[in-house]
Amino acid sequence: MLDTVKVTNAEFAADVLEGLGLPQKTLPCRWLYDERGSQLFEEITDLPEYYPTRTETKILEGCRREVAAAAGSGATLVEYGSGASVKTRLLLDTFDALHCYVPIDVSASFLEETADQLRRDYPSLSIKSIVGDFLSPISVPSNARGAGRTVGFFPGSTIGNLSNAEISDFFQRARQDLGDGASFVLGADLKKDVARLIPAYDDAAGVTAAFNLNILKRINRELEGSFTLDQFAHEARWNEDASRVEMHLVSQMDQTVTVADTKIGFAEGETIHTENSRKFAIDELVQLAEAQGWTLSQSWMDDEKLFSVVMLDAA
Ligand code: AVJ
Repeated sequence: MLDTVKVTNAEFAADVLEGLGLPQKTLPCRWLYDERGSQLFEEITDLPEYYPTRTETKILEGCRREVAAAAGSGATLVEYGSGASVKTRLLLDTFDALHCYVPIDVSASFLEETADQLRRDYPSLSIKSIVGDFLSPISVPSNARGAGRTVGFFPGSTIGNLSNAEISDFFQRARQDLGDGASFVLGADLKKDVARLIPAYDDAAGVTAAFNLNILKRINRELEGSFTLDQFAHEARWNEDASRVEMHLVSQMDQTVTVADTKIGFAEGETIHTENSRKFAIDELVQLAEAQGWTLSQSWMDDEKLFSVVMLDAA
């Protein structure tokens, strides 16, 4: 059963027309994840250059018993931006008598597919899916809560897509949504050599490029857009001041594109900014969390210090 906080075409249209009307043309990154986009993202996670997924998985394999012990018996696991719930299985396999799993994702079809697979593999697990954007308030259904602790799970450094203000809002809302006595397990990608970062967002096989360009295909399909895909090129850029990798789509020529009857002009070299992927110092992240009612419980890293998993407790 899907609770529907339904994402509509009207919202997509409004975001696209607003974003493409800004001086720095911008598209909110959540629109990258239609069915094809979600598939492409899954492919990205297997790329040799894309270290975050396999590094985080390794960290979780190492720390999951400690996490499960801290969560205790009969917990409710609430996952923000669940995708294919691959890493979640590590926790589902380790938690003691999990009461309920609540995955939240923007892609309804992807969520449904994943829930079906989980039901096959964990027949006794109760799953209550929520279709939604983790930036909007969610309410954990009351029957999803048992006697145990509520544990938030936000892996993949998806938190890195957010601005500082959005991170603060997110921590505050998660503190409210999850409630007193909750814990929160968070994956965060760490600052590192730019030479390591850029290829992770501009891979040799071109999968990330296809992922980025897919948003234009989606606009063409869903909003009667007239983008010609080979007139835009994928670019991954390091922004030192904001400590983030940015994805852009660079117009290869002067051109005019129509979206839902609106004409949009592009100069050669002008870009559409489609995603931010912030790289953290653990201390910065913990400070942002502490300001919103969380305290650091434990944290783990890989040997190369590429990525971290942080466990917070409601203060
Ligand atoms: C899923 C948002 C964490 O920023 O690394 C991967 C998305 N974008 N390659 C990331 C992404 C391009 C990913 N997050």
